[in-house]
Amino acid sequence: MVPLSRLFSSTLGRKYLMGASGMALVLFLVVHLLGNLTLYAPNGDLMNTYAARLKGLGIVLVFMEIGLALTILLHIVAAFQVTYSAKMARPIDYDAPKTKGGPSKNTVGSRNMIITGIVLGIFLVIHILQFRFGPSMEEGYTTSVNGIMVHDLYRVVVEAFTQVKWVAFYVGCMAFLGFHLRHGYWSAFQSLGIINPRWSKPIYALGLAIAFLLAFGFLFIPIFIYFTQSGGGNP
Ligand code: HEM
Repeated sequence: MVPLSRLFSSTLGRKYLMGASGMALVLFLVVHLLGNLTLYAPNGDLMNTYAARLKGLGIVLVFMEIGLALTILLHIVAAFQVTYSAKMARPIDYDAPKTKGGPSKNTVGSRNMIITGIVLGIFLVIHILQFRFGPSMEEGYTTSVNGIMVHDLYRVVVEAFTQVKWVAFYVGCMAFLGFHLRHGYWSAFQSLGIINPRWSKPIYALGLAIAFLLAFGFLFIPIFIYFTQSGGGNP
């Protein structure tokens, strides 16, 4: 196995790490979105049962969370290094993106990858503080599901998404997520060297579809909760 330090020391290695960690994070997002679909259920029981089952994994969940945190960190460090070495190699930006037909990969997302990434990093810190480390059982956020007392995570989410400011914040950040995924997916395939010219168009289309589904899948949750739980009346 190639040691991590050796991968980090070459441009190709860093691109590989960024692509592989990005793919792992997309996988996390798919699982996270599927779990969050429980928020569409008529009351919070399904969501709270799902969250309680996850917590019930105990030490396994702790290891999964540590793995996730390390993957996010790896992705951020590799992204900054790749951007820095690209800037050093080409200090003056090209005038304008040129394309010879076909779908241009040099889109808004590709040129602003680092900006969308920074926005998502800030989003992630706020999001985790708000939900993962938000109001706890000790603070009275409890509910009974099938006679068992569990953390009322549903109430935490609903209290946020019945406020316009949080709905706007999430919808805005999910638009950034869509842009980031659209280009990130494409460049991950290139970095990992899995692009065969014959497959580039369908792979690009698949990337677009995944970015669209994930961004819109997450984006509709706060909107849905706002209109079903507050009657659209909370400022
Ligand atoms: C409307 C959209 C979203 C909702 C409703 C949502 C909901 C939640 C909730 C309720 C938790 C706490 C889970 C728990 O404590 O058991 C959580 C954790 C988390 N979310 Fe989200 N999420 C959304 C979007 C996102 C996005 C777009 C990302 C990544 C870009 C993300 C990344 C995370 C991470 C990394 C955690 C911590 C996981 C852990 O420590 O177990 N979430 N989310």
